[in-house]
Parts: sequence; C-alpha cells; structure tokens
Amino acid sequence: MKVSFAAPALPRSGALVLTVAKGGALEGLASEADNAASGALSRAMAASRFDGEAKATLEVLAPSGLDAERVLLVGVGDELDARLAEDVGGTVFSALAKSGSRSATLVWPQAGSSAAAALGAALAAYRFDKYRTRLEDKDRPALAELVIAAHDAEAAGRSYEEDGARIVEAVAFARDFVSEPGNVLYPESYAESLRGLEDVGVSVDVFDRAALEDLKMATLLGVAQGSAREARVVVMRWQGAEGPPIALVGKGVTFDTGGISIKPSGGMEEMKWDMGGSAAVVGAMRAIAGRKAAANVVGIVGLVENMPSATAQRPGDVVTSYSGQTVEVINTDAEGRLVLADLLAYVIERYEPRAVVDLATLTGAMVMALAHEYAGLFSNDEALAEALLAAGEAVDEKLWRFPLHDVYDKMLESHIADMKNIGSGREAGAITAAQFLKRFVGETAWAHLDIAGTAWTDKARATVPKGATGYGVRLLDRLVRDVCES
Ligand code: BES
Ligand code: MN
Ligand code: ZN
Repeated sequence: MKVSFAAPALPRSGALVLTVAKGGALEGLASEADNAASGALSRAMAASRFDGEAKATLEVLAPSGLDAERVLLVGVGDELDARLAEDVGGTVFSALAKSGSRSATLVWPQAGSSAAAALGAALAAYRFDKYRTRLEDKDRPALAELVIAAHDAEAAGRSYEEDGARIVEAVAFARDFVSEPGNVLYPESYAESLRGLEDVGVSVDVFDRAALEDLKMATLLGVAQGSAREARVVVMRWQGAEGPPIALVGKGVTFDTGGISIKPSGGMEEMKWDMGGSAAVVGAMRAIAGRKAAANVVGIVGLVENMPSATAQRPGDVVTSYSGQTVEVINTDAEGRLVLADLLAYVIERYEPRAVVDLATLTGAMVMALAHEYAGLFSNDEALAEALLAAGEAVDEKLWRFPLHDVYDKMLESHIADMKNIGSGREAGAITAAQFLKRFVGETAWAHLDIAGTAWTDKARATVPKGATGYGVRLLDRLVRDVCES
C-alpha cells in the first residue's frame, strides 16, 4: 500500500475517512462533509451505537452529495496520542482493506500525530502471500493507496519517509523471515539473505562451521550437530557513532524439534518461528541503518536447526562453551540458551559493548506466565531495564520484569560439570533459563527478553496482523534512539 500526505480537503473519489472524538461531535471537514451529504453522517451515527470510542468504526456507503464512494467514521476517543494514532491508522486499513475501495483519504484531526497514523496503517497492511497460488482477487486487499490529509502534511511526509517508512520495511523484513517455513529458511539460506543488509550500509560477517569450530563455539555447535544443515553465526555492524557499541543478540533456531529430547508432534510446526529473536535483531539493524542512526550497534545471531539424528547431541553430553565453562546437556530441547551462551560470551569479549540485549523464544514457561501481551524482561542493570520498559510502552511492545536471584542459579548445579542446561523440575522455567544466560555475561550491563509468547500471534491486533509479529524490532529501534542518540 502506498502512503502519502496532502493538505486537508475532501477527496473526489475513493473512500473518505473521518475521525470522530468521544461523544460523536463532527468537526471541521467532518461537519462540512455531513452538511454536503444533508446530514447523512450524523443520521447514521444516531442510528447506530457508534459514539467516537477509540478504534470503533462506522461505514456509510455512497452518501449522496459527496464524491466519495464510502465514508468511514473512526473513533479517536478522548485523548489522541501518537500511540493511539498508530492503532487508529491500523484500524482504518483493516476496515477498508477488503471493502472494494482502491484508495482512501484519511482526514487527520491534529498536527503532530499524522505520521504515526500512517505508520500504523502501513504496519497493518503487511501480508505474507508468497505461497498462495490460488488467491482470488476478492480475497486480496483492494486498498492500494492511503492519503493522509493533514495540516502538517509537509513535515509529516518528510518524517514518514525518513523514519516511519524505514520502520515499516524493517518490521516486514523481520516478519518475512519468521513466516518462512523451515525447509526454506535454514541457517545457510538465512545467512545468505542477511547479506542483503549490506545494501543499507550494514557490514555483514558470516561465520561458517569451520570458523565456529576455530572459535570454539561448542555449545552452539552441539545444538546444530544433529542437523543436515550447518550452523551459521552472522555479525552485523552499524557504526553511526564513536564509542563502545550496544550489542543485540538473537536466538535463531530455524526449526526446533527438541532434538533427542524430542517435542510432541502436536503443534510442532510452530517451532519454525523459534528464530523470532534473531528476526528482531536483524529487523532492528535494518531500521537503525535505514534511518542512518547516530549510534554504534553490533548485532549477532546464532542460526542452527535442532534435529534428532545419529549425529545429534545426547542428553548427558558435556560441552565446553566459548567462555570455557562446561555444560551438562540434560535436555536437548533447552537449546536456545546453549546458542545464546556462546554468542553472549563472544560478543562481550570481542566488542566490549556498553550494554547487551538478547532476545529469544526461550521457554514455554514464559508463555504460561504472560501469554501474548507482554514479553519477559530479566536484567542485571537497573538503568537498562528502565530504558527497555519505557521503550516497550512507547511502541506497544510491552515488557514485564522478572527476578534474578542466587536461589534460582543454584537450581542449575550439575554433578559432573559447571552447570546443567535446565533447572531441577519445571518450576520457574523462564527464570532458570535467564540465570543460565547470566553465567555468560560477567559484569556487562545485560538484559534478556523472553519473547516466546509474543513472536507470533493467532489473533490480529490493530497494527499487527495474524502470524509473525516482528516483536522486538521497534522496541530495539526505540531503545537505541533513547539510549544512544539522545
Ligand atoms: N523454543 C522452545 C520454547 C518455546 C516453547 C517457544 C513454546 C515458544 C512456544 C525452547 O527451545 C524449549 O523447547 N524450551 C523448553 C525448555 C525446557 C526443556 C527446560 C520448554 O520451554 O519446554
Ligand atoms: Mn527447544
Ligand atoms: Zn527453542
């Protein structure tokens, strides 16, 4: 969908979208439109329950006196901030997508938030149709053009082009990776696609198996050893400023069968999105580079497939991590932490970052605790945790903080190695996973985001269609703005 900006005016064709504040008063162009239509809009409101409640909609077809083929009234409640503007934009797209209108003009009521409305609409317009060969035209969105009619059209247009549109691309980039099935997206193919980031100025280094063996990333390689697909680690750098970088680390398990500790078959297909953490990191790198951020950022993703086979890692195997610490692999399905352990230790030693944030679809326990609204936050640093919580609220990728404590760490004690890869029993499963990671970060400011519940959704939200959410892209982009660029 093409998004553009224009000065406020009623359109000559297509759909006309008017915002209505709580209470249902028609103001400005909305009242002009109502007059031109001899009161058809106010009569439609009176005949319905629509009263301007945020994100409620009311459609009026072909009102005589207006050129528009339809009028959509959309509620903006009683406090229209940038966050709600995004949701209203997304709501407008979804309400019109399959209405039949090819173009729409959204008359925006205030300066300052019109670019946010455009962003929300464009985020909602994401689709992943590449494997549908029989999609009929009536099942495709017809809406191809959205014009935002706003008093600040010029400034908003510039801001959207330089910033919002870059975010839309980055989120779509991440959602595409998460949507791809495991037979198409595997470590090697994923790493190849990431070379495309060089086009936006990110430097990309791909480590193949031999390089990872030389580096002694044995906990990561242990996860990959049962698969016919070789592991890859990809390091992405954007140096838009001097000083130590912020490091973003992502779990990229392109398919997680559980390995020898195999998962039950029901629902296993969902484990194609076990690379959601890595997608957040690569999406954030794209957003950051896309808007040429004045920040120094290094992203690293560990790409592996977790399979059972004759060469697979066994429960009970002991592996020596990049950090030198040994791990007894009690459960081969607790593989994400084994991948992250080597990435964390490596990125900290190699780049001495000012802070590290890792993202991973790490535990089913996180989904039990928080379902799909919040992701879990674990951190050894108050300032970093606060910054992440604030960024999450600002972009509606919310976080809830969980504790770290020695008592949970003790649950990882092994009889024969420095640690086990799971706790004793299933209690506090998301926390023991975080405690495991903590053993690989030393004194560096670090945060771990368990996004197992938020990487994928079965229920559409205003700016997030069903399927891959791209959760984390906007959160990390906002964190970098707040921490590095201000
Ligand atoms: N990728 C899974 C976690 C997961 C489960 C994400 C469900 C999204 C939905 C992870 O690798 C895993 O299998 N974790 C185990 C850990 C357990 C063996 C300690 C889990 O949560 O069951
Ligand atoms: Mn697993
Ligand atoms: Zn996993």
